[in-house]
Amino acid sequence: MSTTFQLDTATSRANPTPAPMKRLTVPAIRRRKKDGVTAEPIVMLTAYTARQAQLLDAHCDLLLVGDSLGQVIYGLPSSVPVTLDIMAAHGAAVVRGSYHAVVIVDMPFGAYEQSPQQAFESAARLLKETGCAGVKLEGGAAMAETVAFLTARGIPVMGHVGLTPQAVNLLGGYNARGRSDAEADKIVADAKALDDAGAFAIVIEGVVEPIAIAATQAVACPTIGIGGSAQCDGQVLVTEDMCGMFERVPRFVKRYADLAGLISGAAESYAAEVRARTFPGVEQTYQPK
Ligand code: KIV
Repeated sequence: MSTTFQLDTATSRANPTPAPMKRLTVPAIRRRKKDGVTAEPIVMLTAYTARQAQLLDAHCDLLLVGDSLGQVIYGLPSSVPVTLDIMAAHGAAVVRGSYHAVVIVDMPFGAYEQSPQQAFESAARLLKETGCAGVKLEGGAAMAETVAFLTARGIPVMGHVGLTPQAVNLLGGYNARGRSDAEADKIVADAKALDDAGAFAIVIEGVVEPIAIAATQAVACPTIGIGGSAQCDGQVLVTEDMCGMFERVPRFVKRYADLAGLISGAAESYAAEVRARTFPGVEQTYQPK
């Protein structure tokens, strides 16, 4: 059944019908993987706005306010320039638009790498200002101390290994990682280090399939693949990619819609009607009282 929304004009909040399920929790997501098995795969999509969150919420276990919004929303060349202010504003919008999914907000480049204390300040700000349930940060063993520090202080952390887009300047691009034995071993070791440090889940991005499988088998917490393997404990995609907002998408993305075509088609029809002076149609014409 599809969800409809009634606007509460007092709060500007759109209330869904049917009434939403109770919001999932981080421990419930973590418990999905038991003794190395995830019977029910974890569904995660990115969300950047309140309306997008409303539409995705009922279908997802997790909504990720990814710093990919730098490219997707702001037209930036990478996620490197994204700031904590930007993540806080979009995180709050997504929490307002969701009722069921666990909302995780990405820590942007420069907001956590310096020290566990810096990471705590940034993560605490995101939790306070957005109402999100946890944060995601990129990096493996080098971030383990930070993950343990945050977790011990009440902040759930999702890790992110393999292709880590914030390190694009070091990596030299967005190619799949783990093609050499040494790099493959490091990615699996990174995942283990994050798991041992208390990460509740780990995104594995852009790695050759055997590595995604090896990392998934090596850790107790769920792995969430993107360009990894169907054997991961869950999957994530950038919503705009899977909805067909862009002509160019990574090879592992399946397009489920053609939103770009729909939007430009709608704009074309509207422009034609305005130019022909047939818009607005008679039934929509504003009638002053
Ligand atoms: O920023 C993002 O959207 C992400 C996902 C692609 C995992 O990190």
